[in-house]
Amino acid sequence: MSRLLRDLIKGYIPRSLVNRLLLFFPQLYKSLRYESQLSEDQIAVLREILGKNIPGNVIECGVYRGGTTVLMARYLETNRIAKKIYALDSFSGFQEDGVNDEIQKGLVPEQGRTAFTSTSVDYVQRKLERLGLRDMITIVPGYFEDTLDTIMDSFCLAFIDCDLEKSAEFCLTTLWGKVVNGGCIVVDDYTNPGYPGAKIACDRFLSKVSYTAKQVRHGFLVIEK
Ligand SMILES: C[S@@+](CC[C@H](N)C(=O)[O-])C[C@H]1O[C@@H](n2cnc3c(N)ncnc32)[C@H](O)[C@@H]1O
Repeated sequence: MSRLLRDLIKGYIPRSLVNRLLLFFPQLYKSLRYESQLSEDQIAVLREILGKNIPGNVIECGVYRGGTTVLMARYLETNRIAKKIYALDSFSGFQEDGVNDEIQKGLVPEQGRTAFTSTSVDYVQRKLERLGLRDMITIVPGYFEDTLDTIMDSFCLAFIDCDLEKSAEFCLTTLWGKVVNGGCIVVDDYTNPGYPGAKIACDRFLSKVSYTAKQVRHGFLVIEK
């Protein structure tokens, strides 16, 4: 059933119709894993960190359709762990200059120009409302370069999933001071040859902060503070 639904959604139905269908029947989200872009193994890594119940809230930089945000929120809710999640994204894909620059450098494939544009703040907001998660999640729309500095909080988990070298480096540098001792920064695409910018950003960042424990897990780089 879920496979059929996924294929239908991927291939034949216009996005606006898919959004309306899902918002009207929110029970369908579960079989689509809430539209998360991550694998089960990767979600398990995030759940493991959240389960440690380290002080501090959670921040996700690169949210797209909010699938992973929902999975993290559901886990916190089920386990009665009181934390807020900040969900940051442009909700309209990559910044034009940034992605063009990285396509030219060979860090992003051509399709990157239009990647992750099939979302919107309105869609994610309504989705969270339909799933009863609006109170736990603060949506922060805009480019990280304009929004991240405005968030005055500390984090047990900062999940960075933004594909671009420049975006990843900005998030790593800005968030490091806001992650509590014992907390983690997790970066997706560390081993993804299709988006090598994430690894370049992480390795450059790590060469500046030497006192970290780090691990590669299911394509993630997990940096423990
Ligand atoms: C791979 S998607 C995120 C997927 C999501 N974490 C999930 O697991 O379902 C990457 C997202 O990063 C966002 N992004 C990349 N650079 C950004 C920037 N500088 N400011 C805001 N959003 C950015 C894109 O808009 C895109 O939605």
